[in-house]
Amino acid sequence: MKKIFVTRKLLKENEEKLKELFDVKLNLKDKIYSAQEIIEESKNCDGILSSVTDPINAETISKLSSSIKIIANGAVGFGNIDFKAARIKGIAVTNTPDVLTDATADIQILLLLGASRKAYEGRIAAEKQNWKWSWDFLLGKQMSNKRLGILGMGRIGRGVARRAKGFGMEIHYHNRSRLSPEEEDGAIYHHDIKSLFEQSEFLSINCPATPETTKIINKETLSYLKDNTVVGNAARGDVVDDEAMVEAIKSGKVFAYGLDVYNGEPKIHPEYLKLKNIFLLPHLGSATKRTRWDMAYRATKNLEDFFNNKKPQDLIN
Ligand code: GLV
Repeated sequence: MKKIFVTRKLLKENEEKLKELFDVKLNLKDKIYSAQEIIEESKNCDGILSSVTDPINAETISKLSSSIKIIANGAVGFGNIDFKAARIKGIAVTNTPDVLTDATADIQILLLLGASRKAYEGRIAAEKQNWKWSWDFLLGKQMSNKRLGILGMGRIGRGVARRAKGFGMEIHYHNRSRLSPEEEDGAIYHHDIKSLFEQSEFLSINCPATPETTKIINKETLSYLKDNTVVGNAARGDVVDDEAMVEAIKSGKVFAYGLDVYNGEPKIHPEYLKLKNIFLLPHLGSATKRTRWDMAYRATKNLEDFFNNKKPQDLIN
C-alpha cells in the first residue's frame, strides 16, 4: 500500500475513504506544519495530500524525500506549491477544480454585496443597539443593473457572471485569452486591464495567483478605476498591493472592498481592520460541507489514479 501524508485534518468521511486506499499518516490535531515539518513528516511517504495553508516552495521541494512522487493539493489554487520545481524533481502536482466553483462564486457575490451594502457597519450598529432608521442611514451602493468587471474569467469568474446576471448586471471581463462566444455568454471582453477597470462600477477579482498576477491590483491599476468602485476579492491576497488598496479606499476611488483572502494569511493588513467600508471573511470561499467533501474526494481520486498508473484528471505539471 502506498503511504500518503495528509497535511491537515480532513472531514471524517474523507479520512475513512483515504484509509481504505492508502496507508495514511494523518494530522489528527490539525497542526499547521511549517515547511521544515512537512519535509520531516513526509519522509518515507509516497505522496502528500496538501492544503492551501502549506508553503511548498522550491526550497521545500528540493528537500522532500525522493520517495514523494505526487502532491495532491486539496484546493483549486496552487500558488502555495512551486509546481515547476516539482516537475523538475519528477513530482506530479494536482489541484481540485470544478467542485468549488459554486461555493466560491457564491462567496464572491456575498463580498460584493456585503461591501456595497455596508453589512459590517450595519452589524455593528445593530449589535450596539444605537441605531435608528432614517432616510440616510447607512446608504450603500446598489449592485443591481450596474456594470460588473470580472478580472479572470475562469470557472469561478464565469460562475460570478452567471449570478450577477440575476442582478441585471452588465458583464465585462479581462482574461489572458478571450473566451469562446459560448463561454462568454454575452460578456464583453476587454483586451487590457485599463479598459476593463475604466468601465467597471463593481470589480470582481477572480484570477489565480501566479508570478504574473502578483500585485496586479496596484497603485497604477487602481488609478484606472472610476471613483466609488466596489471591489471584491475571493481569489488570493497576493494579487493585491494592500498599501495601494488602503490608499484607494481612503481617497474614495474604492467605495468599499470585500475580501476573503489575504497576503500572508491568516494575518490581515492592520489598516483593513480599521476601515469601516471593508467587509472581511476568513477564507470561507469553499467552506461548505458538501464542497469540502468534494475537494478532498477529488484530491483522493487524483492520488488513486496516479498510483494506478492512470493520468490524474487534474494534473497541473
Ligand atoms: C481555496 O482557496 C482554493 O484555492 O481552493
